[in-house]
Amino acid sequence: MVQLLDGKALALQIKDEIANEVRQLTAKGMRAPHLVAVIVGEDGASQTYVANKERSSKEVGFTSSVYRLPANITEEKLLETINFMNNDSEIDGFIIQLPLPKHINEQHVINAISPEKDVDGFTAINVGRMVLGEDAYVPATPMGVCTLLKRYGIETAGKHCVVLGRSNIVGTPAANLLSRKGFDCTVTMCHSKTQNLADMTRQADILVAAIGKPEFVTAEMVKEGAVVVDVGIHRIPDETKKSGYRIIGDVKHSEVDEKCSWVTPVPGGVGPLTICSLLENTMKAYKRNNNIE
Ligand code: GUN
Repeated sequence: MVQLLDGKALALQIKDEIANEVRQLTAKGMRAPHLVAVIVGEDGASQTYVANKERSSKEVGFTSSVYRLPANITEEKLLETINFMNNDSEIDGFIIQLPLPKHINEQHVINAISPEKDVDGFTAINVGRMVLGEDAYVPATPMGVCTLLKRYGIETAGKHCVVLGRSNIVGTPAANLLSRKGFDCTVTMCHSKTQNLADMTRQADILVAAIGKPEFVTAEMVKEGAVVVDVGIHRIPDETKKSGYRIIGDVKHSEVDEKCSWVTPVPGGVGPLTICSLLENTMKAYKRNNNIE
């Protein structure tokens, strides 16, 4: 029988833990942690993501600000905003929601973020620290994947984990984290040039689908009894929904789920944990900024 890695329920529990910690701090007269999200332009998915981040921040008692900047802002102006946030001691952490408009050099902008406030873990310094196993801010989505596996007590040591996708935000850091001491998986990374992909994925005890293609993973690609973690989030037009769309993942759940021992639903799997990870990183930045612990 397949069991659900219920990200929604776990996220509620983790948010409760964070909210308790915030209450204890503010009861002592300290200010709440402060997270800023910067959004440039009007990208629909980004608006939703940032709105969710803002709502969750407020739910746990954080101060949350959203800086909305016009799509035609110059890179120089955006760098000025980053410089301002780097130097504002009342801002513990901030994120620049991606993607940015085409005329802006994303990597240039990301690397202008102070590594101590980079709660997305996207700067070269934090990526380097993570790969070296030093204390680092780890990107929220792979951190969410790890939290789900850990908190559900999924056995990972010596297991063959196949990661589908090699993005800087998900696939690459997920492969790195899951191969580390503590998880101890044997990791294979697959990508668009991988040959005989289904032969690879069928060998996975743990399959992390972060390929960015709707319902790409079908039943014949999955081993009986595998743990399947679906990182995909795709909006598909659906007139029966009030929003006009429904959310599907990278996995064809209608046929894959019955083969799994554990599977993340979409929505309600990795997504809610991603936001929790951002909150956890912000709490860590706050403690560092205020010399706590
Ligand atoms: N765009 C898609 N995912 C993310 C994320 O985790 N952080 C930021 N800043 N932008 C994103």
